[in-house]
Amino acid sequence: MKAAGVIGWPVAHSLSPRIHRFWLQALGLDGDYSRFAVAPESLATAIRALPALGLAGVNVTVPHKRAVMAHLDEISPEARAVGAVNTVVVEGGRRRGLNTDIAGFVGPLQGLDVGRAAVIGAGGAARAVLAGLHRLGVAEVLIFNRTPARAEELLAASGLAGQALALAERVRVPAVDLLVNATSLGMVGQPALEVDLGQLPATATVYDIVYAPLQTGLLRTAAARGLRTVDGLRMLVGQAAPAFQEFFGVAPPRERDAQLRRMLVGEQA
Ligand code: ATR
Repeated sequence: MKAAGVIGWPVAHSLSPRIHRFWLQALGLDGDYSRFAVAPESLATAIRALPALGLAGVNVTVPHKRAVMAHLDEISPEARAVGAVNTVVVEGGRRRGLNTDIAGFVGPLQGLDVGRAAVIGAGGAARAVLAGLHRLGVAEVLIFNRTPARAEELLAASGLAGQALALAERVRVPAVDLLVNATSLGMVGQPALEVDLGQLPATATVYDIVYAPLQTGLLRTAAARGLRTVDGLRMLVGQAAPAFQEFFGVAPPRERDAQLRRMLVGEQA
């Protein structure tokens, strides 16, 4: 039996066990996926113990995605570029770090022609989003952030052309092909994200990385304008898929995404 899990602090809210267990059950695989609440001061010990515990790997969530990098034997170039690891794979006693958030972000955008994008936020999540936009071959990106200096830094590090801008009280989003909210604004318990989508073309896509609630104010506004929307659950399931394949050696049954989403939304409510 192969076993994996998720390490975070706190970790009780993590949906990863439900996603991985759904796939294990759907495939009839003899595997397990658990939650591990690991305090920051115990991270090094926990990561070093993974091979001894016989785990195939772990997902890594807040607040460990950056700190975990100091305790690995190998880090993928993409994870290094983003400065964050969300998946650790154990192979022959070695621990390899990956970042599957990038693939998770990009998945729902495959086939879209994105020339110009706007990103709100310049934190850890925005770094994965920028790496994803780079992978998609986006020509220009506008980064809006409360602290514009962080947006400047992120833009410079991304290697993309564009502009760093201050996040105003109510941003008038310029005419872009894709708008991404990469902040926690709009999440349960957080302030709303106030934006004016009036200038977006009818062909634009609006993507929110927030998944609780699933239908954020931003996505509601976009849907009311008839724009294509992508919610944060798509990214969450998308980042879990390559990790599942690494841990259990089989691709997850993505054709059952609709059923998985119904299960996640039902249990989340
Ligand atoms: P994460 O890893 O989830 O991206 P983070 O690195 O702390 O978390 O980044 C949080 C992002 O949300 C940042 O862009 C932050 O803006 P600042 O760089 O100015 O801090 C943004 N953010 C969080 N709370 C916000 C708020 N109340 N108003 C505007 N932006 C906010």
